[in-house]
Amino acid sequence: AITVDPKGSGAKIDDTMYGVFFEDINRAADGGLYAELVQNRSFEYSTADNNSYTPLTSWAVSGTAKAVNDDGRLNARNRTYLSLDGGSSVTNSGYNNGISVESGKAYDFSVRARADAASAVTVTLQDSEGTLAEARRVTVRGGWAKYRATFTATRSSTGGRLTVAAADPVALDMISLLPRDTYQGHGLRKDLAEKIAALHPGFVRFPGGCLVNTGSMRGYDEASGYQRKRSYQWKDTIGPVEQRATNSNFWGYNQSYGLGYYEYFQFAEDIGAMPLPVVPALVTGCGQNKATDDDALLKRHIQDTLDLIEFANGPVTSEWGKKRAQMGHPKPFHLTHLEVGNEENLPNEFFARFQQFRAAIEAKYPDVTVISNAGPDDSGTTFDTAWKLNKDANVDMVDEHYYNSPQWFLQNNDRYDAYDRNGPKVFLGEYASGGNTFKNALSEAAYMTGLERNADVVKLASYAPLLANEDYVQWRPDMIWFNNHASWGSADYEVQKLFMSNVGDRVVPSSATTTPSLSAPISGAVGLSTWATTAAYDDVKVTGADGTTLLSDDFSGDASQWTHTGTGSWSLQDGQYVQTDEAATNTMVQAGDPAWHDYDLQVKATKKSGK
Ligand code: AHR
Repeated sequence: AITVDPKGSGAKIDDTMYGVFFEDINRAADGGLYAELVQNRSFEYSTADNNSYTPLTSWAVSGTAKAVNDDGRLNARNRTYLSLDGGSSVTNSGYNNGISVESGKAYDFSVRARADAASAVTVTLQDSEGTLAEARRVTVRGGWAKYRATFTATRSSTGGRLTVAAADPVALDMISLLPRDTYQGHGLRKDLAEKIAALHPGFVRFPGGCLVNTGSMRGYDEASGYQRKRSYQWKDTIGPVEQRATNSNFWGYNQSYGLGYYEYFQFAEDIGAMPLPVVPALVTGCGQNKATDDDALLKRHIQDTLDLIEFANGPVTSEWGKKRAQMGHPKPFHLTHLEVGNEENLPNEFFARFQQFRAAIEAKYPDVTVISNAGPDDSGTTFDTAWKLNKDANVDMVDEHYYNSPQWFLQNNDRYDAYDRNGPKVFLGEYASGGNTFKNALSEAAYMTGLERNADVVKLASYAPLLANEDYVQWRPDMIWFNNHASWGSADYEVQKLFMSNVGDRVVPSSATTTPSLSAPISGAVGLSTWATTAAYDDVKVTGADGTTLLSDDFSGDASQWTHTGTGSWSLQDGQYVQTDEAATNTMVQAGDPAWHDYDLQVKATKKSGK
């Protein structure tokens, strides 16, 4: 039976509690949410980004065409352009090996071009069966200028190709084809944006993930030219698209930054969500584990972060607020939360630098909540150290990430019950249960009831990652899947939608009396923070609500039905299951399928620190 106390006062639930985590992983941006249909439009792909890349990746040449990197370039941040001989052409195959067009819809073509003598340029859209739209012609003459044309597709196709042919020699760059119909006219692919909007997310965390923090900490450097493999830095991603120097990202591909910070803010605004950017902390996790000692560089990044807040919120008379206005948005974007760093394995190094960011932001923008990190795991030394540092310094909010099994999510519903109500609030920035099946979605839904019950501590939560192009998968599971013409939500998507679309005002206290529960006596320290280096487990017992014993084992007989997973060592000694060294998480699984439960019983000894 479930007992509900309608008059009881539970935690207040913020409207912003459930949101989305956008990372440019699995081609989520270029070839995904960013509606551009031409891949490698500015000929900037390079083997320095990815061994399989050349400046002509995704382009097929007929005749003679060369990628050129010289002083005749379009601008200093757009290094390479195409020199096309007269009588030659180049054909782009888009993303997912084809450009998708829909019959009757308009597509806007544009190109930057220059030609010493007038050159007639013909642009066609076709697939293996023939033409997809009437050809367009522009005459290029003189120095670099932008030329445009519009196609209306006469047929639908998912295997389209865009061909640019020149009668006479011509230089080309920024060859672009965008559907006219984008989400709210802001350049984002409509079906994907609509699926995200339909979630009614409270916030959008962007642009990553490991993407944010890793790579060279140097930004685009005017003096030394093109810094590849630099971390994601917001100033690289704003202004005219042809001046956004492309970059390779942590996930191994080139990013055009056509979807940049301005577009992220605008998208968050368009779907009524709070923008939540993450900036690099100059300490890298995600396998790199380095911290910069370059103080000048650190100060530059801190200043960049202050400038970001000015870009989002500052008046049009301010330096960065003016740039926002020039891009078309004089009104502020209302940034209230900002995160520094992502998943650092070096908690002390991270925290020392985080504190410098925090001090500078709080001094200038005391109303902005600065979110910190708790390292990559949900338990263990790094996590504990990071939490202690954050707690001791009264940090407002800490980002936790964990990817676990459905069983873990079912068994850890109480994770936040023990968290200190006076400590930092929690931003559960990334979580998922390892698959996209109904069972995964169900376990996440069950877990989310625990988040919601603790809405006074867990202030923000986002499933991760959000998007995956089925032809470029670096990470799974993912919430929304797509190819070049269709998209579909996973079962997990439906759960997120259910919770995000029905955010309550407050928790109504309730209790259930029929749920089987693990009960004491389990000797040792299950659920406690004082786990000694050795612990013994005995008399495992599972009881039903009516007190009936559903399962018990004193380990005095054959314990072979138990298997142990986890990072510590365990052995059976004198009728006890003994942990012989300290480990973050240990799980004893009883094989079989107890009649009362659909899943294997897991008796889990987790070193819970009750943050
Ligand atoms: O969500 C995918 C990755 O998982 C993120 O980039 C990173 O933060 C985490 O390890």
